[in-house]
Amino acid sequence: MGFRIYVVEDFDGVSRASSDILLPVMKERTILQGRGFNLGLATGSSPTGLYLVMSSRAGQQMFEAEKVRSWNLDEYVGLPGSTPEEREAHPESYHAFMRDKLFKHLNPGFSETHIPKATDINQSELETALNDSPNDYTVEGYEGESLGKAIVIKEDAKNKYLRLVKEKYLDGYIQSIANNKIHWWILGIGQNSHIGFHERGIPLHHEILLVKLDRNTVENAVRDGHFPSYDDAPKYAISVGAGGISAYTSNILLLASGERKTEAVTKAVVDKVSRDVPASILQHHAQKKGRASIMVLDEIAAGELLSKTSYRWVMKEKVIEFYDIMKQQILAAQLFSP
Ligand code: GLP
Repeated sequence: MGFRIYVVEDFDGVSRASSDILLPVMKERTILQGRGFNLGLATGSSPTGLYLVMSSRAGQQMFEAEKVRSWNLDEYVGLPGSTPEEREAHPESYHAFMRDKLFKHLNPGFSETHIPKATDINQSELETALNDSPNDYTVEGYEGESLGKAIVIKEDAKNKYLRLVKEKYLDGYIQSIANNKIHWWILGIGQNSHIGFHERGIPLHHEILLVKLDRNTVENAVRDGHFPSYDDAPKYAISVGAGGISAYTSNILLLASGERKTEAVTKAVVDKVSRDVPASILQHHAQKKGRASIMVLDEIAAGELLSKTSYRWVMKEKVIEFYDIMKQQILAAQLFSP
């Protein structure tokens, strides 16, 4: 199916169009075929409208929630709280987000829900271990204090805490995804074009990451009202990496709306696939046999993309498709309400 981009009017349109894409597939597998469906999930405001539709439709037999298992992309390390329970219950944890925006509204619920157990990790213990054992890991990413980094713990790390983090929280999580495989993964995109917490500059092949967050990511979390100040906000996270998403997922569905996403979305589609633009992994993913990358954008997020002159619109059935003439690739499709 390749790479396809739908442009709709606004945030509500993004939620409706993405549920029109996803729910029939979930129905087909869970109700018509009676088989399991593995769903990849993201946090952030972008998928909240889709989650609302999903929770209301589960009750209307649009899909069978008990046949669905979900895996989330990421979770913060360093949330306020002195125990794992307190950190997990913190209103800004991704555990709390998923509970509030989706899981608690499903009755019955998904049969399994998985979220990286980053809330088990104690940020100061982690920092102590990193300071004490600098030979146990490498740091990957662009130069510069403010830019996000992958902390890659070595196989033969001597420090017990770093080994625990690697084996239990990183390798254990990606292994469970690799063993099961995701049918569709819902993604958002950061202003700096990150997906999950795979920050700009981190090599794309990484499947699972312990990340020191980009300053821009932390600042946006403060700007969006999630944390009162930069100092109060978490500085680390565990995230499935771009390499893990692409390796273990059949279809990617990325949602974006608003001005903050315009540049990130354009780069993800038009720029070369590179670690400078983690979301460009969608282009690479779409080249694989039997895989699809789909973006659902509102008109503002898609604005710059649509103004590129080397593309042309083609009317086809109920969609206008937006081709890159050079690459012979569909770049965008305007979806009409039936
Ligand atoms: C965070 C999350 C991402 C999400 C991004 C954008 O960084 N880790 O998974 O895509 O925010 O969030 P929003 O949709 O609120 O703009």
